[in-house]
Amino acid sequence: MRTVLGIESSCDETAAALVTDGRVILAQRIASQDEVHRPYGGVVPEIAARAHAERLAPLIEATLADAGMKLEEVDAIAATAGPGLIGGVMVGLVTAKALAMATDKPLIAINHLEGHALSPRLADETLAYPYLLLLVSGGHCQILAVEGVGQFRRLATTIDDALGEAFDKTAKLLGLGYPGGPAVERLAAQGDAKKVPLPRPLVGSAEPHFSFAGLKSAVMRAKHALDAAADPDYTDADIAASFQQAAIDCLIDRTRRALRGVSEMNALVVAGGVAANTAIRGALEALAQDHGLPFVAPPLGLCTDNAAMIAWAGVERLALGQSDPLDTAARPRWPL
Ligand code: KG4
Ligand code: ZN
Repeated sequence: MRTVLGIESSCDETAAALVTDGRVILAQRIASQDEVHRPYGGVVPEIAARAHAERLAPLIEATLADAGMKLEEVDAIAATAGPGLIGGVMVGLVTAKALAMATDKPLIAINHLEGHALSPRLADETLAYPYLLLLVSGGHCQILAVEGVGQFRRLATTIDDALGEAFDKTAKLLGLGYPGGPAVERLAAQGDAKKVPLPRPLVGSAEPHFSFAGLKSAVMRAKHALDAAADPDYTDADIAASFQQAAIDCLIDRTRRALRGVSEMNALVVAGGVAANTAIRGALEALAQDHGLPFVAPPLGLCTDNAAMIAWAGVERLALGQSDPLDTAARPRWPL
């Protein structure tokens, strides 16, 4: 059995995890910075980097202690090397390099998006390559054919905003605070999705991509109209529900289009922070059923940023004999 220590610090979660090649998460810890960034209504990169620097080393010690392991017993050290907020990425990557150097273990530099993309295989041992992946997070919205470790064919991406960004902006407009996605989902459950007419950008379009900027602007206009109305006929909850339904309609239409263009996919898979949304999971599951495909979505805790997915990507790369040199650079941008 081989065990990989994973480190994640590319946004606002400081995280460490120990994962085995038998798909067992021996221990994992996540220190959220929600409280640190809440007063600003979003992540402040410089503050995030400082918080990672303070928290990461003790977090790794605690994770090892949880598993009753010593650092020397780990087989490799994997860390997110990008894309993300560069200060935070550097904290995680440099820490991983120091640990790798001190223990003479291999360093594995992981693309954060690959962490999300492979995370469903940690949760589901039956999920084999190739699979069609909808990757929806705070920074990305893509459809990928995942054909193997490091082998991705990008079939669609967003031409403007990521879906998580649209959820976060909607939350801010509705005064739901930060982080926004889960709060919008909760409020949407109390609203009527048919009350507020909103656009579905690019739905039915011959091109494969996503667009959410127009939807975001329409949500803003709807909220301003609501605030200005003497006798409004809809509520904040109706806006949240209508927004979420519009987003779902876009995801389903674009994913259906992608499914038509690929063959031999073993499953329809969703990953990334927005994949924690129950309504979105339900709609995608129905789409997969329509196409006679299994639907795979990681448990909620594996969807939002975590280090178990980074450790697992490390396990997969280690199994292929891959590792990275100690001069590997942190990359703010790193497309799959
Ligand atoms: O993958 P992730 O944790 O970080 C990035 O790599 O971006 O994704 C974070 C994004 C945020 O925009 C957050 O609002 C969104 O995922 N999110 C959700 C939900 N939970 C998190 N969006 C919709 N519904 C949710 N339940
Ligand atoms: Zn992420």
